[in-house]
Amino acid sequence: MTTEGLTTLIPAEKIAVRVAELGAEISRDLVGIVELTVVCVLKGAFIFAADLVRNLTVPCRIEFIRASSYGTHRSSSGRVMLDHHHDWHVEGKHVLLLEDILDTGLTVTRILEELRGHNPASLRVCALLDKPSARATPASAEYTGFTIPDVFVVGYGLDAAGRYRELPYVATLNA
Ligand code: IMP
Repeated sequence: MTTEGLTTLIPAEKIAVRVAELGAEISRDLVGIVELTVVCVLKGAFIFAADLVRNLTVPCRIEFIRASSYGTHRSSSGRVMLDHHHDWHVEGKHVLLLEDILDTGLTVTRILEELRGHNPASLRVCALLDKPSARATPASAEYTGFTIPDVFVVGYGLDAAGRYRELPYVATLNA
C-alpha cells in the first residue's frame, strides 16, 4: 500500500500478531520470576512497549530511558546520549530492555553498559525491528520482532525528524 509518500512495510495486523507472540515467548522464558523490570527506550519504543507489556503475563515494573543519537539526520551520529531517573529499580532485578530498532547497534550497546553498571540479576533485549546489515558494533537481541533490510523506516513509534510516530504500521519513506 502507498499512502502520501509512504509504503507499508509491516502492516498493523502483522505487528499485533508478532507482538503477542513475543509477549508469550518472553512470559514463558520468565515464568516464576517475582517481577520483571521493563526498560522502554524513548522515544521510539513507546508504542511497542505499551503493546508488549499488555501481552506479558509476568508482573512488571516499567521504567524509561531516553537515548538520542540521531537528531534530525537519518544516519547515526555515533554519539549516544542517555537520560533517565536516578531512582530506578534495576539492581538485583530481571531486566528486559525494549528497543524500537537495532541499527548500528551503538544505542543498545551504550544502554547495556549503563544497565550492567547497576548490577541487574539478568538482562535481556527485545527489539521490534532489526537491521543486521547496518551494524557498526556487534549487538544482538534475545527477542526480535522483524528482521528488515537496511532501509529507513517510520511508524509504530519510529520517526523521521519527529514525524510519523503515530502511524499504526511500519513504512518506508518514498524518495
Ligand atoms: P542505532 O544506535 O544505530 O542502533 O540506532 C538506534 C536508534 O536509531 C533507534 O532506537 C531509532 O531511534 C533510530 N533509528 C535507527 N534506524 C531507524 C529507522 O530506520 N527509522 C527511524 N529511526 C531509526
